[in-house]
Amino acid sequence: MKILGRVCVASLLLCVILWLCWIKANVREPAERRPSLLPHVLQLPGYSRLPDGEPLVRNPCNTCAVVSSSGQMLGSGLGPQIDQAECVLRMNTAPTVGYELDVGSRSTLRVVSHTSVPHLLRNQTYFFQQSQDTVYVIWGPPKQMDIDQGITYRALLQAKSKFPGVNIYALTQNMMAHCDQVFQNETGKDRAKSGTFLSTGWFTMILAMELCEEVSVYGMVSESYCRDRTQPPVPYHYYEKGRLDECTTYMMHERASRGAHRFITEKAVFSRWARRKRIYFKHPSWEA
Ligand SMILES: *[C@@H]1O[C@H](CO)[C@@H](O)[C@H](O)[C@H]1NC(C)=O
Ligand SMILES: *[C@@H]1O[C@H](CO)[C@@H](O)[C@H](O)[C@H]1NC(C)=O
Repeated sequence: MKILGRVCVASLLLCVILWLCWIKANVREPAERRPSLLPHVLQLPGYSRLPDGEPLVRNPCNTCAVVSSSGQMLGSGLGPQIDQAECVLRMNTAPTVGYELDVGSRSTLRVVSHTSVPHLLRNQTYFFQQSQDTVYVIWGPPKQMDIDQGITYRALLQAKSKFPGVNIYALTQNMMAHCDQVFQNETGKDRAKSGTFLSTGWFTMILAMELCEEVSVYGMVSESYCRDRTQPPVPYHYYEKGRLDECTTYMMHERASRGAHRFITEKAVFSRWARRKRIYFKHPSWEA
């Protein structure tokens, strides 16, 4: 009886050992420990999807073209080059139709100010139906973008229910505070106390650095550009010819004590980032 018992235990043990060996041989290591051939997926919690609040999740872009709305783009002929980037990031409702040669025609993502949302909503068939592959990332203060009370947020929710296929994200209020903090770190000035509104370009550059391995920037001048009086005037926006002049607008905002964008200060910060990261200013072309 005793011997039989030992044999039984021994064979059971052998079975268990053999089984463990088989498992070790056949079960692959968890995916994260294997050197993956697939690109890793980014999770960006600063951007929350409408209506469910999920973070922005997608593969990183190897190359990005960040296209500003500046009049610098007029006559550039850079459309084909811009369209070759894996991801094309635009600002607000800057049109491509009719400007393809200079600004390209693809829009992977648009960063949109709460103040431009009414323009989006006025042309929903174009932005949310014809261009529904574009991801919309909206920034704004709590009064506009709070998920319970924000007026703009509510209007966007309505648009989302009308066009369920569209991808709309809102910067979380944490992310808004983070962007303020980045401004303070870089300039030594409190964003609100210094009477400053961040520009859509600021939010776009921060998102581009999170999303893209390499960023080519189109239509952003250097911080010293507007000091050089020999530069020919260009419109503030390429799609609003004959209205504001870019450098005049930049200088006016830079000097204003309250409620102003600091386009030139922001450019100086972008230039510092370009010394550390793969950010290239293509048009006008300048070195950080
Ligand atoms: C909507 O936008 C498209 C593309 O920019 C433009 O061609 C069209 O005229 C716009 N429609 C309205 C009603 O504004
Ligand atoms: C601001 O600077 C501090 C000190 O260098 C750093 O710890 C913090 O991460 C920075 N924050 C941002 C948002 O850049």
